[in-house]
Amino acid sequence: MPLVTGYELLQPALEGGYAVGAFNANNLESVKAVIDACEEKEAPVFLQVSQGAIKYAGLEEAAALVIAAANKATIPVALHLDHGTSYEQNVQCLRAGFTSLMYDGSKDSFEDNIAASAEIARMTHACGIPLECELGLIPKIEDYLTEEQMGPCKRGEVECVLDLMSEAEVAKLYENSTDPDMAVEFRDRTKCDSMAVAIGAIHGMTGRGSKLNFELLQVLMDKVNLPFVLHAASGIPFDQMQKACAMGVCKVNVATRISMALIQGTAERIAAKPDEKDFRKVFDKGMERVKDVVYEYVDLFGCAGKGGAGWYCGPQNVAITKESPE
Ligand code: G3H
Ligand code: ZN
Repeated sequence: MPLVTGYELLQPALEGGYAVGAFNANNLESVKAVIDACEEKEAPVFLQVSQGAIKYAGLEEAAALVIAAANKATIPVALHLDHGTSYEQNVQCLRAGFTSLMYDGSKDSFEDNIAASAEIARMTHACGIPLECELGLIPKIEDYLTEEQMGPCKRGEVECVLDLMSEAEVAKLYENSTDPDMAVEFRDRTKCDSMAVAIGAIHGMTGRGSKLNFELLQVLMDKVNLPFVLHAASGIPFDQMQKACAMGVCKVNVATRISMALIQGTAERIAAKPDEKDFRKVFDKGMERVKDVVYEYVDLFGCAGKGGAGWYCGPQNVAITKESPE
């Protein structure tokens, strides 16, 4: 079916008490594997284009891959911009057919984040497309550790990179969490449709060692009343992920695990048949591994079966900020 909007995935998730997975779209193999797995599970899904994917594949190219795959799929798919960097990039994505957008001003001052997010929300709402914004800082593991420092984790000598961080670094991580009062003000002044919240997760973890602050999540839930997005899911232990979804988080972003699955499966396939002459065949095991990761997450999020043949979302309360001229 044609792409659906983020509104059409988030509203039923909010009402149904489940979360929708958002997986990164970097190349043909990852897009095909994610959509195939979601079709088998009858799960709605966001395919999201990250800043890395834009550099690697190109914005239009990545979008075209997702649009073509979604058109053939029987499940609802939204094409999302991940960690959008500017007003201009959001406009470029709208022109390329994106149906869900994001602006990440989390590294800016509170006022600058509000000003830019509000301006972009007004523009995306005029086109009937929702905007996710980020408040509080969800860091990358590379902000704390060098490649070299992460070595023991990559060699499997420690369970999780978080164990390699100093106490001061861990304290800083939680200090940068989303503040509930600021989140209320941010919501009111930006009119954003969903919020990426910082509650202890770190992007790019190679082991599941994050410790989410559920007390904070509950306060945010009670005060802010917006769809919440959980980023950096690769490093979140499964029991914590399930708890966050049960508490009302309705979109969960996964990237690193998808990337690692594709690499590991492909490496095994090449090692098993190093004289393969057809490069198209070397990705089959990697794609299977990606599908296994997606099956697992979709079950955890509770969205399996929510995008099957009977899927109909109905008219959504799409925020149009300006009346059309007479
Ligand atoms: O925006 C992307 C996600 O937050 C993915 O993070 O690579 O840690 O799973 P991850
Ligand atoms: Zn993220």
